[in-house]
Amino acid sequence: MASKLWEKSVKVNHDVETYTIGLDREMDLYLAPYDVIGSLAHTTMLETIGLIAPDELKIIRKELISIYHDIQNGKFTIDEGIEDVHSQIEFLLTERIGDIGKKIHSGRSRNDQVLVDLRLFMRSEIESIVNHVESLFNTLISQSERYKDVIIPGYTHLQVAMPSSFGLWFGAYAEALIDDLMVLLAAYNVNNRNPLGSAAGYGSSFPLNRTMTTQLLGFASVDFNVVHAQMGRGKTERIVANALAGIAATISKLSFDACMFNSQNFAFIKLPDEFTTGSSIMPHKKNPDVFELSRAKCNKLQSIPYQISMITNNLPSGYFRDLQIIKELFLPMFDELKSIISMVEKMVLSIKVNTEVALDERYKYMYSVEEVNRLASNGMPFRDAYKKVGLDIEAGLFTPDPAIHHSHEGSIGNLCNDRITALFNDTVAQFDFDTYHKAFDELLSC
Ligand code: ARG
Repeated sequence: MASKLWEKSVKVNHDVETYTIGLDREMDLYLAPYDVIGSLAHTTMLETIGLIAPDELKIIRKELISIYHDIQNGKFTIDEGIEDVHSQIEFLLTERIGDIGKKIHSGRSRNDQVLVDLRLFMRSEIESIVNHVESLFNTLISQSERYKDVIIPGYTHLQVAMPSSFGLWFGAYAEALIDDLMVLLAAYNVNNRNPLGSAAGYGSSFPLNRTMTTQLLGFASVDFNVVHAQMGRGKTERIVANALAGIAATISKLSFDACMFNSQNFAFIKLPDEFTTGSSIMPHKKNPDVFELSRAKCNKLQSIPYQISMITNNLPSGYFRDLQIIKELFLPMFDELKSIISMVEKMVLSIKVNTEVALDERYKYMYSVEEVNRLASNGMPFRDAYKKVGLDIEAGLFTPDPAIHHSHEGSIGNLCNDRITALFNDTVAQFDFDTYHKAFDELLSC
C-alpha cells in the first residue's frame, strides 16, 4: 500500500516527510469523525451526478459509518507513515472495499476536506462551549441571588469607592457571559457555511451539487465563491478563537478578583481548605492556585487569535501548508476552555462569602456618596451637599449610615437577574444546533 495519496514514482525523503507531517497525525484525530461525515455527504452527492453507482454508494456508506463508529469507540488511529486523517480514511476504505474506495475523492481536494472538517468540528465544539457557559451562567446567577444583600466595597483605582455587593459581583460576570455568547453567535454564523466543493480552492469541472452537500451537512448556506471558501481557512479559526478568547477574558478577570478577595487583606471570600493548595515551607498557607492557573490559562488562550493572525497575515489567497500549523494552536483550545469553565464553576459554587465585610471601619467612606445624595434629595444642591460631606470628612465628623437605597435597574437593590437570564436564554436560543443534529442523524442512519 502506498503511504501517500500523491506518491507516484519517487519516494519522498524521510526527513521531509517527518517535518511536513509534523503534529498532523495527532491533531487530525480531533477532525476524524467530521472527515467521515464530510465524506458521507460528498459521496452521497457524487452518486446523484453519476460519478458513483447506487450499489457502490451503499457499500461506501456502510463502511464509512463503520469507520465512524470505530472513531467514536476509540478504535481509530492514524498509522505511522500515513500523512493525515484524510489519507488514513481513504486507505482504510480502499483496503476494505477495494477499487470502489478509490472513487470517493472525485471532485474534492484535501484542501476543501480539511476546510469542511474544521467547520463541522467548530460547530460541534461551539455547542459544547455554549453548554458549559450556560452552566457557569446559572451558577453565577444563583450565587448572585443568594448573596444579593451582602454589601462589599466597590473600588475605583483600587481605592475604596462606593458600596457594591456580592449580588452585583457574581451577577456582573453572569451578564458578561452574554456579551461573550453574542460574539460567539456571530462566529458560529460565520463558520456555519459550506466550503465543500471548493476543492483545491478553484472548484471542479464535475457538476458538483454544492447545495445538496450544504443540506446534507446541515449548514445554513453554501460558502459560494470557491476562492473565498479557501480564504476562510485560518480566518474562520481566528474569528472563533477570538470569540473563545472573549470568554477567557471574562474568566480571567473573575479569577483575579477571586484571588484578591481571598487574600487576608481583603477577606471578602474564603475558599474551603480542600479547594486550596499549600506551601512546602510556610505551614499556614492556603493558596488559591485554581484561580491563579485559570487566570494564566485564560491569558494564554487570549494569545491564540493573535498567533493565528501572525500565521495568516502575510499569505496571499490560495492554499499554503502554513495553514496546517494553525491546527495545533487552535484545536486544543476548546478542551482547555471547557476544563477551565468547569473548574471555575466548581470554585464559584464553593466560595464562602464574608457577610460582615461592610461593617469594617476602614470602609466607612464608601457611604459618602449615599450621604451626599440624601442631602441632595432633601433639597440641597448637589455641589453644596458634596462640599459639606467633604468638609465633614476632613474634619473627622463624618458618620456613615449603612442603609443602602439603590433601586434603579442593575443596581444593588434591583439586580434584574430575571431580565439578565431572559437575555441570556434568548441569546442561546439563537444558536441553531437542531438543523445540524438532524442532518447528522440522517447521514449516519443506515
Ligand atoms: N494537512 C494539511 C492541512 O492541514 C491537509 C491539506 C493538505 N493539502 C495540501 N495541498 N498539501 O492543511
